[in-house]
Amino acid sequence: MISDINQLRLQFPILGREIYSKPLVYFDNAATAQKPLSVIEMSSLLLEQTNGNVHRAPHRMANDCTSYYEGAREKVRAFLNASGTDEIIFTSGTTASINLIARSFSSKFLKSGDTILLSQAEHHSNIVPWQLVANELGLNIKVLPVDQSGRILSEKIDEYLDDSVKLISITHISNVTGLITPVKDICKKAQAKGVITVIDGAQGIVHSKVDVKDIGCDFYAFSAHKLYGPTGVGVLYGKRDLLEQMPPWMGGGDMIESVSFEKTEYAPLPLKFEAGTPNYAGVAAMGAALDFCNSLVENIHKHESDLIKAMKEGLSEIDGIKLFGGFENERIPLFSFTVDGAHASDIAILMDKMGIALRSGKLCAEPLVKHFGAESVVRASLLPYNTLEEVEIFISSLKRVVKMLLN
Ligand SMILES: Cc1ncc(COP(=O)(O)O)c(C=O)c1O
Repeated sequence: MISDINQLRLQFPILGREIYSKPLVYFDNAATAQKPLSVIEMSSLLLEQTNGNVHRAPHRMANDCTSYYEGAREKVRAFLNASGTDEIIFTSGTTASINLIARSFSSKFLKSGDTILLSQAEHHSNIVPWQLVANELGLNIKVLPVDQSGRILSEKIDEYLDDSVKLISITHISNVTGLITPVKDICKKAQAKGVITVIDGAQGIVHSKVDVKDIGCDFYAFSAHKLYGPTGVGVLYGKRDLLEQMPPWMGGGDMIESVSFEKTEYAPLPLKFEAGTPNYAGVAAMGAALDFCNSLVENIHKHESDLIKAMKEGLSEIDGIKLFGGFENERIPLFSFTVDGAHASDIAILMDKMGIALRSGKLCAEPLVKHFGAESVVRASLLPYNTLEEVEIFISSLKRVVKMLLN
């Protein structure tokens, strides 16, 4: 069990490094999280000592890799409180998970004239896949608006759920505002009208306890790399009865029962959706990342609220700051902002020279950033391994940078 920040930071060797001779302050966690030793060790184990392709050969190393791979599936099932491991599909990340649903679900269940409901706060990964299938199948896309602060107007959902809407795909937590969508309520209202619900959990899985049964969603997608795991691995949770009816998205090895030129029988779930050699080393390391998450005890989450409070206080002292998501709404420790008269990328570049890693730009959510009337924003996103001392360094450096840019 990890109950103390120093103990927590020791698990992350990278946090001890210097950037331009300054101690690293890593505040770009919404883009990707750093990795604890247990994840690094699991990755090395499968690269150095135990490598054999899964589900195939009878030899010892292949069997061991299969055990790690399928063991991780059970860990994901338990983490999400899914009913069975057949509801857990391994993908390369949130983007691939959403593309899988968009392709496979739409080809089976949607027809020309049907509508997909998105929100204005979506990441491009939850917009473009739907546009691609909408163009092919003649579907319409409607957009649930946000208010001035970027909060999704979920109270308007009933107005938007007309008879043509067959599926809603919405973010659990915005990667621009850090605001939390009331997904449970949305799923309840959607399901009452027979509308399928897809949750983009790329940020949600990191900052909230996700129980897919409690949320009541049909699909939930996330990436391992934002949750202390490796890149190139992700999950699509789907309700069994839907996944069973959906056709495979990609064909190849491992997803078949038998193949002939006349007729191919597909493998049962979940392998039906896992064509080709998967990233089994990455999946095993994701299993280690979930064990790590389970080892974080409650006061780590209390620490997260302290970080949010300190960030809000510090940012409110910067003249000309616009904090998207507002100072009042409940949010995760993620802060996107602009400062009047200073370009976002100049801020991020100068902060980097002070050892502080931030993100700037449109944050892969151009419609929302444009809604704020901005071309580019700066984002600071924290995880529990960040400290109040780092927040102080961030705020004092930001003040210096803004002064430099405005003079
Ligand atoms: C809300 C949200 N959705 C989707 C994604 C896409 O995740 P990935 O690039 O890991 O597939 C991200 C990544 O930043 C995100 O923040």
